Amino acid sequence: MLNQQELVQKYNRPAPRYTSYPPVPFWINPPSSTDWISHIKKNYLDDVGVDLYVHVPFCESLCYYCACNRIITKNHKNEDSFLEALLNEWQIYKNKLGFSPKINSLHFGGGTPTFLSPKNLEVLLKNLLINKSPSFIGSIEIDPRTCQSEHLEVLSQNGIARVSLGIQDFDPDVQKSINRDQSPEMVSALVESLRALNFSSLNFDLIYGLPKQSLTTISQTIKKVAIMKPDLIAFYSYAHLPDKIKNQRLIHEIDLPSPELKRDLYESGKKLLLENGYEDVGMDHFALPSSYLYRAKVENKLQRNFMGYVDKKSSILIGLGPTSISDSSMSFVQNMKDLKSYKDKIAAGELPLELGHSHNEDDINIQRIISELMCNNQVSLLNKESLPFWDEIKQELSLLEKDGIIEIDDDLITISPRGMGFVRNVAMSFDYHLRQQINKTKFSQSI
Ligand SMILES: C[S@@+](CC[C@H](N)C(=O)[O-])C[C@H]1O[C@@H](n2cnc3c(N)ncnc32)[C@H](O)[C@@H]1O
Ligand code: SF4
Repeated sequence: MLNQQELVQKYNRPAPRYTSYPPVPFWINPPSSTDWISHIKKNYLDDVGVDLYVHVPFCESLCYYCACNRIITKNHKNEDSFLEALLNEWQIYKNKLGFSPKINSLHFGGGTPTFLSPKNLEVLLKNLLINKSPSFIGSIEIDPRTCQSEHLEVLSQNGIARVSLGIQDFDPDVQKSINRDQSPEMVSALVESLRALNFSSLNFDLIYGLPKQSLTTISQTIKKVAIMKPDLIAFYSYAHLPDKIKNQRLIHEIDLPSPELKRDLYESGKKLLLENGYEDVGMDHFALPSSYLYRAKVENKLQRNFMGYVDKKSSILIGLGPTSISDSSMSFVQNMKDLKSYKDKIAAGELPLELGHSHNEDDINIQRIISELMCNNQVSLLNKESLPFWDEIKQELSLLEKDGIIEIDDDLITISPRGMGFVRNVAMSFDYHLRQQINKTKFSQSI
């Protein structure tokens, strides 16, 4: 049997992150704007409502590792026209649907949502949340460097109870090499303010595999995190794609850890998190037993959407803002990336859709398989012979079983404890789009 390091060497290969299936580069057959609206109407249930995602693309400074869709600017004058476009986009949806959907949840992502002034954030929230579901959940990604106490007040007064802070790493040399200077003291003060306002959940984003990280720096960072005790931690693998993401060329390759050290950074970070009371809830995510994600995990209610793990979701996700992705359960669409084109389209009274994909039966089956593997570490294969490329899948699954990554019991596939870090590889074996298009698209390494 291969040891952990040999497994990393064998399985560390480019792989999609599978926040959706099929991944964006494999989308085909986009729905027309009319079909898109009819898909939403077909799947809308008024007792559940829709999930909203709002993308605020602006950031004041560039983090060299960043793979998000964002625009770096210190000019806050464009806030008003951006706010107007977002509100008009939502109005276009309401006009085309012919009703005002109930809001099941709202997530603010970016870029940096707290780039918007507290006043503009409040206007946005008041307008979007006119028709809130009684079990509404609001969440936001916050950059600690651009968050004022007035932002926190607006958020807490408008039902945004779950907060995620971008931390990445606390080591000063690592921070310097990624151009993200943020002291533990500043973050700790922000955590105190969040606790004083009774936000219900606090997540920290951390990344392993960054330049200048070592086993010592990662353990020091995690010890500081453990003192602040967020109830959730996303411990992401650094996705390094300098050919595609130009800003990552500002990172010196020589400072990056080797694949073996990267895996050790993850393993030692994970060990420390577990020793500090966190539980592994799924790919890259750790939770205290008191958190909503841990509860969802033990109650088998964990689900995934484009933003990651959630404890509840609607069959409809509507994304507002440039590059936002939406899901009708029958199709995906993505908004335009270019801010001017996005605004122009909305000014013309049209939805700013750029890309899309209409699901066929295979997509829906494989979505279920990948989601269950990632949420429950287990999936029961129904009608497996009808899956596209089943003979190839079967061969790959038996190799994964031989390497101790999965256990196979008739139709039941279970990720084994030593296979937890390789879920993306297991998911990949079912990906028929990838098999059809291999070598055409670049993905980050699976580990
Ligand atoms: C939109 S940002 C979070 C909010 C805010 N902009 C901030 O940075 O504080 C989302 C998260 O994506 C993660 N991220 C960005 N680029 C990444 C990359 N190349 N590899 C892995 N994670 C990345 C970071 O952990 C970051 O906190
Ligand atoms: S990590 Fe966050 S703050 Fe940094 S550039 Fe990316 S989106 Fe902006």
